Amino acid sequence: MTQLHNREIHLTSRPDGMPVPENFALVETTLTPEDSDIVVQNLYMSVDPAMRPALSNGQTPLGKAMTGGAIGKVIRSASADYPVGAYVIHRCGFREYHVSDGSDLSLITPEDEAITTHLHILGGTGLTAYGGLLVIGELKDKENVFVSAAAGAVGSVACQIAKIHDCRVAGSCGSDEKVTYLKDELGIDYAFNYKSTSIARELHIGLPDGIDVYFENVGGAHLDAACGQMRPLGRIPVCGMISAYNNKGARSEGVTTLANMIYNRVTMRGFVVYEFNHLRSQFLSDMRQWMREGRMKYQETVMEGIENAPAALIGLLHGENTGKMLVRLAEGSAAV
Ligand SMILES: NC(=O)c1ccc[n+]([C@@H]2O[C@H](COP(=O)([O-])OP(=O)(O)OC[C@H]3O[C@@H](n4cnc5c(N)ncnc54)[C@H](OP(=O)(O)O)[C@@H]3O)[C@@H](O)[C@H]2O)c1
Repeated sequence: MTQLHNREIHLTSRPDGMPVPENFALVETTLTPEDSDIVVQNLYMSVDPAMRPALSNGQTPLGKAMTGGAIGKVIRSASADYPVGAYVIHRCGFREYHVSDGSDLSLITPEDEAITTHLHILGGTGLTAYGGLLVIGELKDKENVFVSAAAGAVGSVACQIAKIHDCRVAGSCGSDEKVTYLKDELGIDYAFNYKSTSIARELHIGLPDGIDVYFENVGGAHLDAACGQMRPLGRIPVCGMISAYNNKGARSEGVTTLANMIYNRVTMRGFVVYEFNHLRSQFLSDMRQWMREGRMKYQETVMEGIENAPAALIGLLHGENTGKMLVRLAEGSAAV
């Protein structure tokens, strides 16, 4: 039976506020898979904001390998469903190898796209933007749309879907470089750096007629500013509230403008991506077509090696990523 040397990331203490490297440890293990096991070498793992609240609320246990989306290659298998060489996606990231009975694996069959796109634009991230904007946001052509965390993985897809629907799109982000990316690369109409300006003032300039759909990724001051400028029958699909995730209980800053929801009859609705699973094949077909037409672009920020997975998560919370934050765990190797 072949033994495998594996390295994985454990949470060793719960962060108070922004996580620090000392909250995590790189742990070496030896794996001895059974003959019936499927051995997956992880190639890339996803880094997601939702991992942060899980560090504090107990969902991520101490002293065990952390979890999260990953893509790997099957390097040993007796299963016809998951043969050696197949690409699979699963939830056991934060480790170099995943030993599975197959029940937690899904095959991915890339067409002409990079394999990593299945961890973002063609995966859950893209589906979050697609369902959040089109289903929960009930987006209509030519509406006025505001997207926060617009240069991130979900936000950049939401901006581009809104542009495909001929909307006027404004986006907020945390650096001047990201402002340039949003305007010059993604072609949105107005972008601003929320760290150096007034969000409410920028929204008045960027969307002077008000907001029909606010795609909410941030919460707090962003929601306060946007809610006050919603148009009649406006919609606020609440995707995330990353500004709150380092706070105790993920409690967000207060919002003072909710009264605008009354006379303008604004709807605010939270959602979770699994609500849109039934749309997956239409989503994939639309996204692939938009990518081929050059109307759907993406960017990745890739950190190297399992040892940098904690830095990638901390970096995401500091806004170090443009587009999707990933960690490359291996290039892919031969069967064992
Ligand atoms: N509901 C769902 O099913 C679902 C699924 C996936 C993701 N989400 C949510 O969608 C949002 C975006 O997720 P993502 O995976 O695409 O991450 P992302 O936007 O690629 O990365 C997070 C970004 O948030 C920004 N940020 C960090 N702290 C901030 C703060 N205090 N105020 C404002 N912006 C801050 C940073 O960019 P800047 O440089 O711009 O600050 C950072 O790059 C998150 O809220 C996440 O929880 C929800």
